[in-house]
Amino acid sequence: MYLRNCWYVAGHAEEATVKPLGRIFLDEPVVIFRTETGTLVAMDDRCPHRLAPLHKGTVCGEQIQCPYHGLRFSPAGMCTATPSGDRPPARARLKTYPLVERHEMLWIWMGEASLADTSLIPDFSRLTEDDADWLSGYLYVRGNYQLAVDNLLDLSHIEFLHPMLASPIARAHSQLEQEGDTVHFTSTLPDDKPLALALTMNPRLAPHGKTVMRERWEVPSLVFLSVEYYSATGDWYIPSGHFLTPETATTTHYFLRSGQTVDKYNAQMTEAFKSGSLHIFATEDIPMIEAQQKNIGAIDLMDHHPAILRTDAAAVRARRVLSRRIKEENSPVYTAVEAQQGQ
Ligand code: FES
Ligand SMILES: [Fe+2]
Repeated sequence: MYLRNCWYVAGHAEEATVKPLGRIFLDEPVVIFRTETGTLVAMDDRCPHRLAPLHKGTVCGEQIQCPYHGLRFSPAGMCTATPSGDRPPARARLKTYPLVERHEMLWIWMGEASLADTSLIPDFSRLTEDDADWLSGYLYVRGNYQLAVDNLLDLSHIEFLHPMLASPIARAHSQLEQEGDTVHFTSTLPDDKPLALALTMNPRLAPHGKTVMRERWEVPSLVFLSVEYYSATGDWYIPSGHFLTPETATTTHYFLRSGQTVDKYNAQMTEAFKSGSLHIFATEDIPMIEAQQKNIGAIDLMDHHPAILRTDAAAVRARRVLSRRIKEENSPVYTAVEAQQGQ
């Protein structure tokens, strides 16, 4: 079961163009496009005539045309034209989803459209500041989105899954705080055990320095991570956003936005940083998540009553908040006011 009345990331802002894009979110096929005047649209990707995928169609002015028999639909999902010139049948209409662009990402509301309030989009404006060269990445994960969130919130795996980045994060000093439904988790490594990644990326840094990893998790599965390194010869940080959107119960869209801050005018360095980061996720994290998913099977991880370690604190807290929100949303006393307040 998914939380529906909340904002999920549907893609990077630059992905929405006049060329329609088809993606499944929460088991629902959705087509995303911009009309020729720039209006953002998300609607059911199944034409109401014979369920052809609209994302294989064409944007014509303010409408999208089905690739099969040419029905056209307005951004409101109304059928506006049939190839025969007949009046469109009443059933020829499509469900639409609120879709907005903010912080260089596309945000989609998969729940009750009348409750979609853009003030509920979490603040990821840090990912647009001009101190970095920003990169956008996408990864497809054959695993449940909460396993990918666990992976990000329990960085103790770095020492074992990514030996190249070696750091004893499991022994870091950590602090967990909750502010409303937002979870903050900070891990601080001792000066004599700095994060090897920082020194590899920025050779100007002194070899002894303090590494701080700050994380912020927001409903439903949005993670801001700032890796910071403080040394006698300078400080350095990598801000990044990790947006996990369920495609199905066992597959996930992973949208990444990360800042290269060593030399923001060095495009070659940004490219190397991007391919390096995506390579680590693609060859080390994702295969692990996919192998976990195979072992977990169709039920939820928590139904296996897994052992919980101290390093799971943030991931467990995030899971609890989300499961409470899902329960509330599905309870008979759930009201529009509660949805608006994010309670
Ligand atoms: S399936 Fe779209 S017009 Fe026939
Ligand atoms: Fe990892």
